[in-house]
Amino acid sequence: MRIGVLTGGGDCPGLNAVIRAVTKSLIHQCGAEVLGIEDGFLGLIEGRARPLDWRAVSGIVATGGTILGTSNRANPLGRDDTLAAALRHAREWKLDAVVAIGGDGTMAIAHGMTQHGLRMVGVPKTIDNDIEGCERSFGFDTAVAIVTEALERVQTTGQSHGRVMIVETMGRYAGWIALEAGIAGAADAILLPEIDYDVEAVAAVCREREQRQRYTVICIAEGAKPRGGEMTVERRLDDSPDPIRLGGVAHALRAQLQPHLKSEVRATVLGHVQRGGAPTPFDRVLATQFGNEAAHLVLRGEFDRMVTLVGAHLASVPLERVAGRNRRVPLDHPLLTCARQIGVSLGET
Ligand code: F6P
Repeated sequence: MRIGVLTGGGDCPGLNAVIRAVTKSLIHQCGAEVLGIEDGFLGLIEGRARPLDWRAVSGIVATGGTILGTSNRANPLGRDDTLAAALRHAREWKLDAVVAIGGDGTMAIAHGMTQHGLRMVGVPKTIDNDIEGCERSFGFDTAVAIVTEALERVQTTGQSHGRVMIVETMGRYAGWIALEAGIAGAADAILLPEIDYDVEAVAAVCREREQRQRYTVICIAEGAKPRGGEMTVERRLDDSPDPIRLGGVAHALRAQLQPHLKSEVRATVLGHVQRGGAPTPFDRVLATQFGNEAAHLVLRGEFDRMVTLVGAHLASVPLERVAGRNRRVPLDHPLLTCARQIGVSLGET
């Protein structure tokens, strides 16, 4: 048996732990040969891959990034010639199946490739925790830990200077990172893409704290927007399957709040520090379980499916159910209720 492994889309802490677990599980359980495809689907199109043996995946459980490289621009399905090249390489390499580790975009491509005869298994990755059908993706816990630390750090400097400190998180169109880190890092206001914020309501929180505690910490997700306003787009990547890059809403909020307040307002955009570096132990364990489960799907011949976590249990869902979808924070989520009940503002009136 010969199995390809690739990582697609943006990177995420825990990718190497998955690559390691898929490879070791397949070698250990059935003596399979594993081929690491470089730079995601780009390597499949361009014919770049290298063998992964026990030694190649040793010592990487705790390392950030992906040893295989990744690309968020390559889509073999985009043109006839790229599709033909990808299928030709899979044939030449005698691949029985490919394990694709990625987000919703990668899952959409993986599902598309199965329609052309390539047997695929998906593993969900994203710090955003926004993959449909998966309650928790690896990388999320690490990102939440980094944002939590950042909130704690801006809190002490904000307190010293009597400032309003705004911290912007990643997360695309879902507010999971901001919500969990905001609660863990004791933010006074948490602003999410799922609930448009009212500028005056946020200003009122800051004014009240100006009297009482001198400082305010606001955790805002990059996809948040004011009532009646638009999301803040940082750039467009027209050759990417996911062309919009959000970013900069913290600066927009700073400009909206400052005229209403005596205290100085400062903004910090955390950006890629949330995605780099070592995964937390929780993410290493989850990534290892996902990789091992992906190997099981391959061995059982269950293709066109993605490994998932439902409750505390590993399961799998059809790729079709996941492809191109987003899992946002439901408006009746218990954490939203909990935040409101302990006096955290969600920017509502
Ligand atoms: O999906 C993961 C993510 O980090 C998002 O939170 C963020 O909006 C996006 O990727 C950034 O992508 P890039 O690294 O291409 O700028």
